[in-house]
Amino acid sequence: MPKPLNSDAVSLWHNACIATCDERMRVIEKGALAVRNGRIAWLGAVGEEPADLRRANLERHDLQGMWMTPGLIDCHTHLVFAGTRAREYAERLRGATYAQIAARGGGILTTMRATRQASLEELVDYAAPRLAALLGEGVTTIEIKSGYGLTLADEAKMLRAARRLGERFPVTVKTTLLAAHTLPPEFASRPDDYIDTIACEWLPALHAEGLVDAVDIFCEKIAFDTRQAERLFDAALGLRIPIKMHAEQLSNIGGTRLAASRGALSCDHLEYAQAAEAQALADAGTVAVLLPVAFYGLADTHLPPIAALRSAGAAIAVATDCNPGSAPGASLQLAMSMATRLFALTQEEALAGVTRHAARALGLCGKCGMLAPGLAADFALWDIESIEELGYWSGFNPCHAVVRAGALVHGALPRGDASN
Ligand code: NIG
Ligand code: FE
Repeated sequence: MPKPLNSDAVSLWHNACIATCDERMRVIEKGALAVRNGRIAWLGAVGEEPADLRRANLERHDLQGMWMTPGLIDCHTHLVFAGTRAREYAERLRGATYAQIAARGGGILTTMRATRQASLEELVDYAAPRLAALLGEGVTTIEIKSGYGLTLADEAKMLRAARRLGERFPVTVKTTLLAAHTLPPEFASRPDDYIDTIACEWLPALHAEGLVDAVDIFCEKIAFDTRQAERLFDAALGLRIPIKMHAEQLSNIGGTRLAASRGALSCDHLEYAQAAEAQALADAGTVAVLLPVAFYGLADTHLPPIAALRSAGAAIAVATDCNPGSAPGASLQLAMSMATRLFALTQEEALAGVTRHAARALGLCGKCGMLAPGLAADFALWDIESIEELGYWSGFNPCHAVVRAGALVHGALPRGDASN
């Protein structure tokens, strides 16, 4: 006999093909899901609902066979920025490299100059259509990094803009301080001083304001080294703030091993990581976040060690990396498509990568990213015939509706649903 639910369960979403994205990637073909107080109270097969869910006065939604997945999670974005780098993209199309453009003061510094000029409200306005596009694709949780301000005031402005986006949109926003993105002109030739300033002054101040959910660093030959990363990680961990790293994107300087040894939530990019590093990630429970849109955008050819990550049993997430330089765009479905086509992930791995594993990369394990009792009732409804259609379409979006905490926040319920 199924266990009865508390009688305050409020809605039942039934007749859906439910892709739970749980550890077993279970699919319930004719499924139903009950929501109480914004959380999943029960899910299972239609007809097996606990007795109190069969009461007539429940709010019922007939999903008419649509597919349901957890709300998608974009666990690595630089969504807040001003301006574009379309000119630099044109230069790269003519043969200039990302590193060459950075070396002459372009790249991240180009976006820094535009972002410093913009007000907080302008940053929110610029990011809003990108966030709307992601929401329309089924995204209910997103990470947003700073990293284009590079002064205390401008990093704070970016993080406040990210928080404001979380208030204006029905999307959960996790903020990451990425002041260690590149060396700003004020600290030219003084990278250690810059890292010390972030670690001792900016991070404590921004943390005291509740603006920092995690700390990230671009660990790379053209950015910061592992010693500097270690210094920053010590400061973050001392404040009990989780850490992340942009690691081995353009070369291998040992960032992944350091980040894993310090228990980082995630290491992101990893094109130049090797098998031993894949094992270190798996052993540490650090999520490998793959960013195939940046790989594509930079015309990279050096593939991340997918087979080694897989055989080591590392958790693999997939994200957009939305940013004006390496990955201009705001489509997580395109990132899934590229993860399968360019990186040879299976479609199931790509789906787990934008749900369960992405949640873990944000420290949200057990809160969202799966459809299971007790987790947030965040889910997307899809006009698709088979689950393989997610990450199959590019430039076409089959998302029908998005539900967050049990409330419809995007799209419409299927026609003919009695509750419409
Ligand atoms: O994830 N690698 C560093 N950071 C970004 C690019 C940022 C930019 O070019 O503006 C990335 O690819
Ligand atoms: Fe990035």
